[in-house]
Amino acid sequence: MDTRRIIVALDFDTVDDAEAIVDRLGEAGQSYKVGLELLTIAGPTLATRLAGEGKDVFLDLKLFEIPTSVAGAVRAAGRLGATMVTVHAMGGSTIMEAAVRAAADFPHLRVIALTVVTSLTDTDLVAIGLSTTIEEQVIRLARLAQRAGCHGVVASPQGATLLRAELGPDMLIITPGVMLRAELAAGTTTEHARPAHPTAAIRAGATHIVVGRSLTRAPDPAAVLAHLAGELAELRTHN
Ligand code: C5P
Repeated sequence: MDTRRIIVALDFDTVDDAEAIVDRLGEAGQSYKVGLELLTIAGPTLATRLAGEGKDVFLDLKLFEIPTSVAGAVRAAGRLGATMVTVHAMGGSTIMEAAVRAAADFPHLRVIALTVVTSLTDTDLVAIGLSTTIEEQVIRLARLAQRAGCHGVVASPQGATLLRAELGPDMLIITPGVMLRAELAAGTTTEHARPAHPTAAIRAGATHIVVGRSLTRAPDPAAVLAHLAGELAELRTHN
């Protein structure tokens, strides 16, 4: 499997810490997620550098704004060289369509929709006035995203199975919430409701996995990436 499908989340509050990981991964690190924390503290410098070096840059902007502002942010992501940008499907078809139209000027840029963030529970949905379950809401928003022309969705490992069946073979499915075998065996807790191993996510229909702390906080991040890439390549051979 192409190592570009393993997206390393650079969730750091200094550009030095993020760059240290990028440098340690070297050639093996081909895809990075830059999110709100790093962007807010450090600006787009690192994202621009990574894109300039030919890396895939998943700019996790989680856009939820008026269509004009969403389109402007997507164009800015495209100019910066990002390959993926996220928009909240909860914002509705109009903003997703605006994002997709804005991305059309940048052939490598894919618009990825977020459905329901994994920290929300059924009770939270009731509190914001939605009388539906998380699962129904995820499917509803994913369908809306597909109709709006989005290229993919973010989904948990469990959601990936459901959405691959709902959305057909062409949509990208980006899956965070993965952990390594040793962490799963040790019952390590994070905010992931039901973590799964990256191979399980890919088997479930994910096209990409997002891996953060399991790799970036490991004593040898390059070894973790090499091991993961090996396991996923193996999976490909057997599928
Ligand atoms: O937990 P980890 O460090 O691997 O998280 C990597 C990324 O996955 C984070 O940047 C976050 O955006 C995403 N994530 C998520 N849902 C969670 C936890 C993390 O979408 N419950």
